[in-house]
Amino acid sequence: MQIKNISLKNFRNHSYCNFDFSNNLNVITGENAVGKTNIVEAIYYLSLGRSFRANDDSELIKRNHERAEINATILEGELTRKIKVNITKNGRAILINGKNISKLSELSKCVNVILFQPKDVMLFSGPPRDRRNFLDISISKKSVMYLDYISRYDKVLKERNDLLKSEKVDRTLLDVTTEMLVKLSGSIISYRQMYVKDINDILNKITRALTGAKETFEVKYYPFVPYDADFNENAKKAFKRAEEGDFKHKQTSIGVHREDISISLNGRDIATFGSQGENRIAALALKLSPYFLIEDKDKKPIVVLDDVMSELDQKHQERLIKFLRKFNQVFITATKLDIPDCNHLLIKQEEKEVF
Ligand SMILES: Nc1ncnc2c1ncn2[C@@H]1O[C@H](COP(=O)(O)OP(=O)(O)O)[C@@H](O)[C@H]1O
Ligand SMILES: [Mg+2]
Repeated sequence: MQIKNISLKNFRNHSYCNFDFSNNLNVITGENAVGKTNIVEAIYYLSLGRSFRANDDSELIKRNHERAEINATILEGELTRKIKVNITKNGRAILINGKNISKLSELSKCVNVILFQPKDVMLFSGPPRDRRNFLDISISKKSVMYLDYISRYDKVLKERNDLLKSEKVDRTLLDVTTEMLVKLSGSIISYRQMYVKDINDILNKITRALTGAKETFEVKYYPFVPYDADFNENAKKAFKRAEEGDFKHKQTSIGVHREDISISLNGRDIATFGSQGENRIAALALKLSPYFLIEDKDKKPIVVLDDVMSELDQKHQERLIKFLRKFNQVFITATKLDIPDCNHLLIKQEEKEVF
């Protein structure tokens, strides 16, 4: 897929801007704080219906204004979709081809953006939640069923935690919620196991393209109970064993919401033994891997690399650019980047408003 055009109104520091993009490399440059990341933030918003760096949508509205707007034209093969996002302090509305959407999944089906940002170098040493998010977002983009399992799981998990917090825990209800968690966990784990296997089948092709070195990276996934023929029985036992602790801490201590992945380089855990450079390559390769796992050419994700070029040496920069030329649509932001054959957009500081 590709974003043909985007216009922003009172979005972050942009009063109004309008860009046409090319269907391969788009390089967005400009001095610090001119609003380059703000532009890719708007692009990413279309993929998930939320920002990757704002806790609250109202942060996206230009200071001293009432509402922000994103308008985009998205192409998927022959299909053209117009997406409009209206953000006000009281909430937001999303329209696809002029019609209000009722479920966020309607938007997330239409736009798929992969984002890599400088802090991703900490992906393996940071909190497990970031790695689970990566897995959940990537698998959801491939399978709407998975997204449904995850949202149902989250709901049941909340119910179970609420029960555990109540004064006198209703054992029958608790068993019912545990049973439901076990069932949903089975589906989620089977998806995760399969996805990690698929990532491992392509990961080293990516790292070799990025570094030229023949090293072996491997993602390891740690399900709380592996998905096999005995899953239901083993998972029930695991919940039983954890029950006393769950009562004591008033929350569900095991389950897919606590799982994690790690990555190893030549058999050694990269978070513990890897250099910063190795962590960066591993994270970049992992983040790019979903691109290759979406088979439909028209649905291939849009790739955004925010401010990562400056952290790579010349050799790695050149390899990365060469690799990215094979992708559909790519956005790269940088303060300065001279590369041939790309759509170059130079962002300038808006004139300061006088109040
Ligand atoms: N809601 C907002 N209203 C106005 N300006 C904002 C808002 N949010 C962020 N900014 C401004 O946007 C600028 C940063 O934009 P950013 O996209 O991160 O810059 P860069 O070009 O370095 O990536 C800062 O000057 C910041 O003050
Ligand atoms: Mg930036």
